[in-house]
Amino acid sequence: MKRIGILTRDCAGINACIRAVVRTASFHNIEVVGIFRGYEGLIRGEVKVLTRRSVSGIINLGGSILKTARSKTFLTEEGQKKAVKIIKKNKIDGLIVIGGNGSLTGAYILYSKFGIPVVGVPATIDNDVNGVDLTIGADTAVNVALDALDKIRDTATSLERIFVVEVMGRNCGWLALEVALAGGCENVLIPEKEFDIESICEEITEGNIRGKVSWIVVVAEGCVKAEDIARKITEITGLETRTVVLGHIQRGGCPTRLDRILAAYLGNEAVKCLKNDEVGICVGIKNNKIVKLPLKKVMKPKKIKVDNYLSLIKILT
Ligand code: F6P
Repeated sequence: MKRIGILTRDCAGINACIRAVVRTASFHNIEVVGIFRGYEGLIRGEVKVLTRRSVSGIINLGGSILKTARSKTFLTEEGQKKAVKIIKKNKIDGLIVIGGNGSLTGAYILYSKFGIPVVGVPATIDNDVNGVDLTIGADTAVNVALDALDKIRDTATSLERIFVVEVMGRNCGWLALEVALAGGCENVLIPEKEFDIESICEEITEGNIRGKVSWIVVVAEGCVKAEDIARKITEITGLETRTVVLGHIQRGGCPTRLDRILAAYLGNEAVKCLKNDEVGICVGIKNNKIVKLPLKKVMKPKKIKVDNYLSLIKILT
């Protein structure tokens, strides 16, 4: 293994992981080329050598210094062949892909269809990568959302209002559950569980009679729109509501200590795997240990255990 390529999505902690890859590779006398703008940039041949120097001062930066893009071309056979051609042309002996399900699916295609030695590193705010406990970027996203939620609570309490706060997570409710539990929210609506708006409104009305005047409902974007829930609550209870959609602020920001540590371990491990010819896998963390899972396995949607979260939120409100 003389030359490794690295391609990423974006979220907090990815730059710390790029740094870990480049510096581990340099330690083993392996050169690293950064592939810019994800699979789209790979197809266009946007590659540049990364040195120990070029990754200094990035450990605390959000996003990805390599930038990223969605690629429709890579979804085609022709696009994939072009990508493989660029990998060969640039003498890339192995590839590290850092990202969520979409990026890891691309990695699996390159490995299974074209025999490219690939190692994946899970990084997404959704924390929906199967087989691993925590993806890079997820902890920062929870903390960013929590910070916003605490501020919203100040206003909710002062104005005695109901707020419906929408968080990201694609089809997974993990981010919403974490934010709701850590933020002391009254209700959380997630794609994994059906909800009954009538009974939520009943709780709100009863609470209101008892003198409870502010309320925060967290909704996961993959479940329902905050606007729709707020409108329904006002219709049924007659109480005033406001909505906040947190959106992309959850994907940026300075990575937490946990995301940086995870990035360091996983970036380091990914290089060692390529070096030892352990490919077609994804490295991750499970029960506090580093695990290596077949890429095929991690692409299946992750089933999160929602009941513990939901019962605790119920008891604590
Ligand atoms: O997968 C990460 C994520 O931020 C999801 O939570 C969200 O649904 C999606 O990406 C948004 O994608 P885009 O940035 O392309 O709008």
